[in-house]
Parts: sequence; structure tokens; C-alpha cells
Amino acid sequence: MKVRIPATSANMGPGFDSFGLALQLYNEIEVERIEQGLVITVDGEGSEYVPLDEQNIVFQAIRYVFEKAGEEVPPLNIHIHNEVPITRGLGSSATAIVGGVLAANRLLNDRYSQQRLLTFASDLEGHPDNVSAAMLGGFVVSGQFAAGAAVLYKRFELPKEFTCVVAVPNFHLATSVSRNVLPEQVKFCDAVANIGAAGLLVAAVASGDMELLRDSMRDLIHEPYRMPLVPGMEKAVRLAREAGAFGVALSGAGPSVIAFCDENRMERIRAALFAGLAEAGTNCTTLVLKPD
Ligand code: HSE
Repeated sequence: MKVRIPATSANMGPGFDSFGLALQLYNEIEVERIEQGLVITVDGEGSEYVPLDEQNIVFQAIRYVFEKAGEEVPPLNIHIHNEVPITRGLGSSATAIVGGVLAANRLLNDRYSQQRLLTFASDLEGHPDNVSAAMLGGFVVSGQFAAGAAVLYKRFELPKEFTCVVAVPNFHLATSVSRNVLPEQVKFCDAVANIGAAGLLVAAVASGDMELLRDSMRDLIHEPYRMPLVPGMEKAVRLAREAGAFGVALSGAGPSVIAFCDENRMERIRAALFAGLAEAGTNCTTLVLKPD
């Protein structure tokens, strides 16, 4: 069987580890039973970095679901075709986890509900934001209040004119590195500001109010700490906002920067992101993507 899983942009500013947006850029994973052994092949983006043995994330996700089911993983042929850039903050590991979890469930004759599968995926990833959007598509708000607890989620459609411009720097940034710069505690007033921004952002998406989105996509609990990891990000955000973006955020743990706009402004915003990053010596490619 074949599954197609979208790239995702997590956090969207204030929704750290909770908000995820699926994008129209996909990885494909094909899994079939074979007589014996494990055969893994990969092509496309970053394929040279993907392990072809039991360390492979797709295989590990399949094995995790079989362990939960109390069954042995059968001999498998796994083929992965990647379009999503890896370690760039666009949810490439979530595609592998969700693809593996969905493939395992089909091999097990659809034993588990979507919520169970999402909980498996979130436990594997360590947070639910990317995996929720990768599994459900659209803009998803999710929460998991303890490891193993059920992931709660709500999916929203975005307005049709909503367009994403993504600047993808030409360096890798592991999520673990980007999480290590975060403080153990944040100031109470910053947490309060983020709660307000996150609530307003959901209200903006639910009501299609893009002006409210512009004002609510602000974060004080992770982006200020991560910005130094992406030279030029501060300027790129400012220029993209001045060029009319609805909002600009670090995509997931970075280093990609994502701006939201309508179709008329995407060229100006693409140029703004590129220029802001380039001024600090950060070369990037830019992608224009619609929400999945
Ligand atoms: N919410 C996660 C983070 C997404 O910002 O660290 C990255 O996987």
C-alpha cells in the first residue's frame, strides 16, 4: 500500500507544540509484505541522510504499532520518496512517523482508530503539533497532556486565498539543537501574552479574520530564543510584515521561516524574506505552498 503525507509547519508563532499546518508538499511511503527480511529504499530530498536499516524512522513507527498490537513485524519492503526538505522545520520526521503508523495500521487490517494512531504518532515524536496536521491535513490545534494520554485535536480549514511563502535556509538544524536553546522557565507575563495570542489566532482562523491573524501571530516563549540560530530572521520577519504578510513565524523548530499572505502579495513577500536572510549571509531557497 502507498500513503502520501504532507509537510507541516508547526507552532505558527504562539502555538508552541500545539498548532500545525499541513502544506501541499508530500512524501510518499510504499510498504508491502515480502518473504523475508527488511528492504528499505529511499529517493528524493535528503535521501543520503536516511538510514536503510532498523534505525529508519518509518520502520521504527511500524514496529512501535506492531508492539502495541502484541504482534511481530512481518518481513517488509519499504520504499520512501521524499519531497520535503529534511531538518529544515517542515515536519519531515512527522511524515515518516505518520506514514509508518498509517502503514502499520493497514497491515493490521485497520485495527486502531484515528485518535489512537495520532496518540502513537505523538508519543513517538514527543509533541503532537506536526503529526496531527500531517495525519489530518489543514490547520490543526492539538494537545496531549501527558505522554500516552489521548491527543485531543480540532481541525480547521483556512480561507482559499491563504498562501504560504517559505524561506528554506541551506543549512540543517536538528530539532534537538533548537529545543536545547529554550529556557526551562518563561516569564509569567510572556506566558500570559502567548495565551492571548494563541487564542486570538485560533479565533482568527475560525472566523477568517486575516487582520486579527496579523496581530495575533506573535510569540514570546520560543522564537526569541531561537532567532540567533537563523541569522537574518529578525530582519526577514520585519520586511515580510512590511510587505503585507498576514503573519510570519519560524516554521517548527527552524531554520525555515514561513510567511502567510494572499496570492497578490506572494512575490513581494518572497523577495522580502530572501533579502532579510541574505543580508545576514543566510542563503535560502523559497517555496510558495498552499495549505493541504
Ligand atoms: N513544536 C516543535 C518545536 C516542532 O518547535 O520544537 C518541531 O518538531
